[in-house]
Amino acid sequence: MKVLVTGAKGMLGQDLCPVLEDKGYEVIETGRADLDVTNSEQVNAYLDKTLPDFVIHCAAYTAVDKAEEEQNKAALVNAYGTENIAKYCGKYEIPLIYISTDYVFDGKKKTPYEPDDKTNPINTYGLSKLKGEEAVKKYCQKFYIVRTSWLYGHYGDNFVEKILTAAKNNKRIKAADDQIGSPTWTMDLAEGILKLLDKPYGIYHVCGGGEVSRYEFVNEILKQSAITADVEPCKTKDFHSLAQRPLYSAMNNARILRNWKSALKDYLELRMGEEL
Ligand SMILES: NC(=O)c1ccc[n+]([C@@H]2O[C@H](COP(=O)([O-])OP(=O)(O)OC[C@H]3O[C@@H](n4cnc5c(N)ncnc54)[C@H](OP(=O)(O)O)[C@@H]3O)[C@@H](O)[C@H]2O)c1
Repeated sequence: MKVLVTGAKGMLGQDLCPVLEDKGYEVIETGRADLDVTNSEQVNAYLDKTLPDFVIHCAAYTAVDKAEEEQNKAALVNAYGTENIAKYCGKYEIPLIYISTDYVFDGKKKTPYEPDDKTNPINTYGLSKLKGEEAVKKYCQKFYIVRTSWLYGHYGDNFVEKILTAAKNNKRIKAADDQIGSPTWTMDLAEGILKLLDKPYGIYHVCGGGEVSRYEFVNEILKQSAITADVEPCKTKDFHSLAQRPLYSAMNNARILRNWKSALKDYLELRMGEEL
């Protein structure tokens, strides 16, 4: 089985591709340089040439705050780029796995979001990813929309790494205690994506199990890393970020992945082992 991965050089892509290879898939890893998803001719030619059995579309514009100033760029990659991939996959009935986000929700719920809950993004990034979801639903019959959240992993500039760096530099850490979500390790997400292939097509929430506030998450990262740091709870609005963020975006993952705390433990252990 041949699988084409877009955005293979990103944080998720770099963990996902080796997992697919380990499971025996032939993986066509593509980055922006060889497959720019915003170039429809290139998308069609590349897929014609490589003829994948299925596609995992990880490529995205992911700068949540910058997206507020670069709305067209975010839409170009996340909406139009996804449409290009979806049109091709739909035309040839190639199953498409589209990685989406908890930011398609407005955060007003008080219990974990379900896959069929109403979407209502409150920032440009979330809106552009939702448009990507709509393109997938419009053009494809065989699709998995995989919503994930609060991703961290070895290859990216992510929340866990930022906290560890700040703590090591003895910086005071401020973290929102009113922003609640489901942290997800990229390696777990990779395994979760594979598990979906045995399930019916549709929308799935593939995130760490359970929920936690950013403030509690920071304390758990530090506790599990045996690092002490000065952590101050604050409110999301205190950050004056360009993009609004949903205050509550925990999702029900239907037990596809384990609890976020156990995943964090394995990630940190692996990371510490590599540092030695
Ligand atoms: N990170 C999170 O917390 C989070 C949460 C929920 C959902 N997600 C979703 O999960 C997926 C993977 O995220 P990630 O954190 O791995 O993102 P990432 O590290 O930013 O990787 C995205 C990749 O997409 C590539 N890309 C951007 N524009 C492209 C284009 N026009 N054509 C082809 N490739 C292009 C980027 O290449 P360049 O480096 O050259 O720009 C980058 O390698 C994304 O769909 C994202 O929306 C992420």
